[in-house]
Amino acid sequence: MRDRIVIIMTMITVLVACSPKNGEKITGKTKTDPFIEQLMAKMTLDEKLGQMTLYTTDWESTGPTIRSGYQDDIRLGRCGALFNSHTVEFTTLLQKIAMEESRLKIPLLFGYDVIHGYKTMFPIPLGEAASWDLAAIENSAYIMSKEAAASGLHWTFAPMVDITREPRWGRVMEGAGEDTYLGSRIAEARVRGIQGENFAKADRLLACVKHFAAYGAPIAGRDYNSVEISERVFRETYLPPYEAAIKAGAKTVMTSFNDYNGVPASGNKYLLTDILRNEWGFNGYVVTDYTSINEMVNHGVAKNQTDAGIMAVNAGVDMDMQSAAFQEKIKAGINDGRVKMEKIDASVRRILMLKKELGLFENPYRFSDKKRETTTIMAKENLDASKDMAKKSVVLLKNSGILPLAKKPMKILVAGPLADDKNNLIGAWSASGEGRHCVSLYEGLRQHPAAGNYSFEHIKGCEIEGNDQTQFSIILEKAKTSDIIILAIGEHKDMSGEAASKSVIRIPGVQEDLLKALKSTGKPIVTVIMNGRPLILNDVHSNSDALLEAWWLGTQSGNALADIIYGDYNPSGKLPISYPRNEGQIPIYYNHKNTGRPLNPNDKYTTKYLDVPNTPFYPFGFGLSYTTFTYGVPTVAKSTFSSQEPITVSIDVRNTGNFDGEEVVQLYIRDLVASVTRPVKELRGFQKVMIKKGETKKVTFTLTKKDFEIYNQNMEKVVEPGEFHVFVGGNSDTQNKVSVTLQ
Ligand code: BGC
Repeated sequence: MRDRIVIIMTMITVLVACSPKNGEKITGKTKTDPFIEQLMAKMTLDEKLGQMTLYTTDWESTGPTIRSGYQDDIRLGRCGALFNSHTVEFTTLLQKIAMEESRLKIPLLFGYDVIHGYKTMFPIPLGEAASWDLAAIENSAYIMSKEAAASGLHWTFAPMVDITREPRWGRVMEGAGEDTYLGSRIAEARVRGIQGENFAKADRLLACVKHFAAYGAPIAGRDYNSVEISERVFRETYLPPYEAAIKAGAKTVMTSFNDYNGVPASGNKYLLTDILRNEWGFNGYVVTDYTSINEMVNHGVAKNQTDAGIMAVNAGVDMDMQSAAFQEKIKAGINDGRVKMEKIDASVRRILMLKKELGLFENPYRFSDKKRETTTIMAKENLDASKDMAKKSVVLLKNSGILPLAKKPMKILVAGPLADDKNNLIGAWSASGEGRHCVSLYEGLRQHPAAGNYSFEHIKGCEIEGNDQTQFSIILEKAKTSDIIILAIGEHKDMSGEAASKSVIRIPGVQEDLLKALKSTGKPIVTVIMNGRPLILNDVHSNSDALLEAWWLGTQSGNALADIIYGDYNPSGKLPISYPRNEGQIPIYYNHKNTGRPLNPNDKYTTKYLDVPNTPFYPFGFGLSYTTFTYGVPTVAKSTFSSQEPITVSIDVRNTGNFDGEEVVQLYIRDLVASVTRPVKELRGFQKVMIKKGETKKVTFTLTKKDFEIYNQNMEKVVEPGEFHVFVGGNSDTQNKVSVTLQ
């Protein structure tokens, strides 16, 4: 390794330096406030523990157990926050119990999983990430928050910022994909969209960054499984989006179910205190995930619920979701000195402070305006925003030229189990979204202004699951007399989301057989896939003339897809995650290391499989357009820079096709020689630019010191001088590069 000068950055990683001197230190700067202090002086221990307790109502369940009697808990001051409770009517009813029947009349806080829409549904988060459009993502988060806040809610359990390299994991649908840089920018955008400048405004919510930490790295992709990653991978790949969300102002954090380095997150002091509060200065409150305190008994780190509760509060948890461990069990630990009262007070203070900042002590019903609820929910501008987001989220994976459809008389056969489906379009984690409000693909195609050119027929052909092929003969007859087939296939919405991991990530049932059968008619096929995770699409690709990745696009699905299919909108999405060629390649991601034996097809003893290429089927960042873009060579003003100097990289991108279109121009770097092994590419910038046909646009990026930082062998964050390649192109496969040297 070449000699290098190591420039140690001001912020040194923490492992040792920033850890509190002893386990008892009360961490994070909690604001104090005379009103809160006076209130706390009046509170009994039970009432304090009540504020640290969050229960679900009996409206719906997002986890295993429902506690009965939560209304009595409110009366008795044994619960300060509720989730799965919404609508002005229901939240008002519950708030009244707190305000009129509890001793101290402390207002309740209402939370809910508003993940990608409240009533107006937007694309699933993985789909939104495919837009690479931060303004649109921020707006989507804003609209969902506005609707939820109008329906009596204060707090959403979003954004989920878990990076994942695991398409088998069902919750891949809920995040922003595999990349840390893209994920961090999206995390910030979502926090801005949810909380705005002032989370107390009537159209905003408190954000909750989840699931802290590394929930997206379960071994073998099985939900809730252990996470076994090195500190380096943890810090480089998984941690930054949480930090970005917190730096963007997120006020609450949710722990994850998994253990990290042998310690379940809800009892992990390293995560909740050393990193979150001491390193990052987080001063909001930490809530656990659903019953995850109790689950520490199953993890085998606590003998019983009491010990688990004590472990959680001492690690840095402020609020217990559904375990009832704080409310019912940890008094024993307070009495015998295992839990310091200051610890309890600090948590209660944090929670009450946020209730105060939300304005709930002034007016506990300020989010309970029936008229606002009626006028806000599913307002036209919300539906327009949903359609806009849906169009931007679609990724064109293949096009032999059949799309956009020619505007001439044609008979269109709209086929497949998802072609006229509405219920699946809301995707998993759909809050109070309803399938009946969604526009199906078939509806969208027929109600579009361009529909007059065509005649339509619809047959399902098969179901999403099962082996039934009895409709095949009928559909094949119809296909023969049609000019074109639009086939919608994919997953059921419950095949992704929580507790929905799969070992085989292919389109289920006989749907691919249906595609193959239709292909035999020789008619052109536009395949639209609807799904919540990367799928193995090799055969789907080869049997289709055009292929659109349409995720679960939400309320406006059909209208958005019709705009794309008819050419009113030119697809601009790019995959936020790699699509494998087969399950055996998983985990597969673009920012892998070079290894000591990089692939050489002519040398047996290099890193490769005998039966499948190393590359993914579709790489990260990939997506086509109806037009084509040609990239010039990236340029820099000089080849050598000091590490303090910003580096400007410019490139000409030319629209060489026949349509105006947007391109996501992506910039990656590679650190050629460092004190530790570095990925072959790392995303460090992107811009989504509209380029008219025939036009050339100069796209300029500025790289700063931060973009070149790495953790050295001592886990210090440094910039190491030396040569870097800077790649600029339309996906992570690009080899279009310039070399720069940092001194
Ligand atoms: C999920 C969380 C969710 C919580 C409350 C849990 O099962 O992991 O993401 O916020 O339930 O519904």
